[in-house]
Amino acid sequence: MTLPKDINQMQPDDASKELARLAKEIALHDRAYYQNDAPKISDAAYDYLRQRNHEIEQLFPDLVRVDSPSNKLGAKPGGKFGKVTHSVRMLSLSNVFTDAEVGEFVKRVAKFLGVEESQKLQFTAEPKIDGLSAGIRYENGKLVQAATRGDGQSGEDVTKNVMTIIDVPKTLSGTGWPDVLEVRGEVYLPISQFEQMNLLRAAENQPEYKNPRNAAAGSLRQLDPAISAKRPLRFFAYAWGEVSAPFASSQSAAITKLKDWGFSTNELTKVCETAEQMITVYNDIEKQRSTLDYDIDGVVYKVNSLALQQRLGFVSRSPRWATAHKFPPEQASTLLQDIEIQVGRTGALTPVAKLKPITVGGVVVSNASLHNEDELKRKDVRKGDMVLIQRAGDVIPQVVKVLDADRQGRGAAFVFPTICPCPLKTKIVRELDEKGEAGAISRCSGGAACPYQRVESLKYFVSRTGFDIEGLGAKQIEAFFEQGIITEPSHIFQLQSRIDSEELARTEGWGETSVANLFAAIAEVKEVSLDRFLTALGIRHIGQSNAGVLAHHFGSWAEFLEIITSPKAGEELLSIDGIGTAAANSVISYFNEQHSRAVVTRLAQQVTILDMQKPKSDSNISGLSVVFTGKLEKMSRDEAKVRASALGAKVSGSVSKKTDILVAGPGAGSKLKKANELGVKVLSEDGWLEMIENT
Ligand code: IVH
Repeated sequence: MTLPKDINQMQPDDASKELARLAKEIALHDRAYYQNDAPKISDAAYDYLRQRNHEIEQLFPDLVRVDSPSNKLGAKPGGKFGKVTHSVRMLSLSNVFTDAEVGEFVKRVAKFLGVEESQKLQFTAEPKIDGLSAGIRYENGKLVQAATRGDGQSGEDVTKNVMTIIDVPKTLSGTGWPDVLEVRGEVYLPISQFEQMNLLRAAENQPEYKNPRNAAAGSLRQLDPAISAKRPLRFFAYAWGEVSAPFASSQSAAITKLKDWGFSTNELTKVCETAEQMITVYNDIEKQRSTLDYDIDGVVYKVNSLALQQRLGFVSRSPRWATAHKFPPEQASTLLQDIEIQVGRTGALTPVAKLKPITVGGVVVSNASLHNEDELKRKDVRKGDMVLIQRAGDVIPQVVKVLDADRQGRGAAFVFPTICPCPLKTKIVRELDEKGEAGAISRCSGGAACPYQRVESLKYFVSRTGFDIEGLGAKQIEAFFEQGIITEPSHIFQLQSRIDSEELARTEGWGETSVANLFAAIAEVKEVSLDRFLTALGIRHIGQSNAGVLAHHFGSWAEFLEIITSPKAGEELLSIDGIGTAAANSVISYFNEQHSRAVVTRLAQQVTILDMQKPKSDSNISGLSVVFTGKLEKMSRDEAKVRASALGAKVSGSVSKKTDILVAGPGAGSKLKKANELGVKVLSEDGWLEMIENT
């Protein structure tokens, strides 16, 4: 298996694979957490996965998956309660982990708004409560409904149980509340109550809850509100959803109002004006963490002005105006027993630390990634070292550093092999990057002839990103590959004739039903869209996103194949927006290489590759090519671009015949001149704003 690499050294196909893996893994943990109240990993580890997913998406925006975890919050409701559709989506928060990232967050906000950092922006800083978020709806001051977050779009109706929470007013106090007010906040179980509850459960021989949040989830999702009432849940209000009228102009003023109307709000909340002040509040709150009777896992910063919050808007499913500064992830130290080299699908070699098993954040860890040769050298990790491990999720913990590098009798430095551990024993190569320097990734030079790469490619082919064949996972592929039954993708679709199905049914781990299900699953994916087909081939640099771009460009397999194997392939590929040289070269050499070409041809004979649909446009500026130039006065360039893209326009950096609109502010120069020469429509910032307001 290819272990994920340092994000900055990822190639697009690594990133695509990693995003697919993260989507799958996060979905699994979401189900464990939201539906079964039984998380398999710690919060820090979970956050790390989401953060890693987010960072990769930032670096490879075109690879963002349709099922990206950033677009989803948690799993679908479990089905025990009625479903409530949130009239305003319940969002998630982006994360920062270091002081420097807090500074970057503040800078990003200022830049987006087009304000000088010296023009002080205000932020609130408040504890991030580790409970379950809920939305509580009031109509004319009366509580009418309460719902869990669920997947952000819809949650579970927990009205009866929320009614039992002492900090939740059934009728709002004071005056001035809007007719419709959905108060949002966190339901939690005080730690003292949690401890008591577990004592009781132990006495009754019931399994204990792992942490207060799971206990709170179990209590809130109790079908019998009488039982829920006996478990003293609490609630902190910190946000709102649908409101029939605005009720404050700042976050802090809104929270004061919520308090006046009868809610508990967090006393540790502070208003700050600089990143330094925010970090000071973070440190203060962290110091108090162990004395609080509720679990917190970080500090949330929010832009104080609601007008600015409105302008900042959202990126995927998180507000641009807020972020969570998380407390550090869990670490542990253990003995590094060995270093192994694993070969991935594209031949990339990943050094893996084999560890003396250790529990980190409740999970036993025995392997950790060392990323690549340079990283290994930089950390100078050696056999026999005590190493600090950081849990990076369920399967990919990382080695942070060596703890006893100065001990007596330390072994020799690890020598990265020059010969691949694969059966071909090929020479290991480090390709040159654009600057002519050795790239970070060492590769097996066996290509399609290397059985390790082939089996990894097959695993990718059947994976969720690829053909998504249920019942045919990594384990089965390995077994079929070893027996020579499936050694290339076309064999999968000929499986019935390549195998004795009765014998397979008698094999351990199989049975008549699973064999029948497998054949059915294979038959089901025989019709495949062009983009999925191209993705599944696992061509370097052609992940889901690039495959999508190619598929949309060519429309059909026949068209694609004709061009790609013709002399004008290079020119055509490079003319496609989003396809760079690396991707273009990679596809061309893949289809010009005899072996891979033959493999694809045989595969294409077994499946039906469906043509792509033309994309639909939904706003009257969607599809228009827009260029911004000169100084914008009402917003930053970034803000303008985000708004234009959100409305479906294509934002470009240069004026050409294809440009539909040039938005020109003061100081516009050559772009304006060129637009005038080409007869491109030119709008002022106000003209543009008017145009987008009417769409
Ligand atoms: S604000 C638009 N404030 O963290 C985002 N969230 O990862 C509104 N949370 O779903 C959320 N304490 O469950 C906010 N003081 C706080 C919070 C908080 C805990 C949770 C909440 C949210 C999750 C986001």
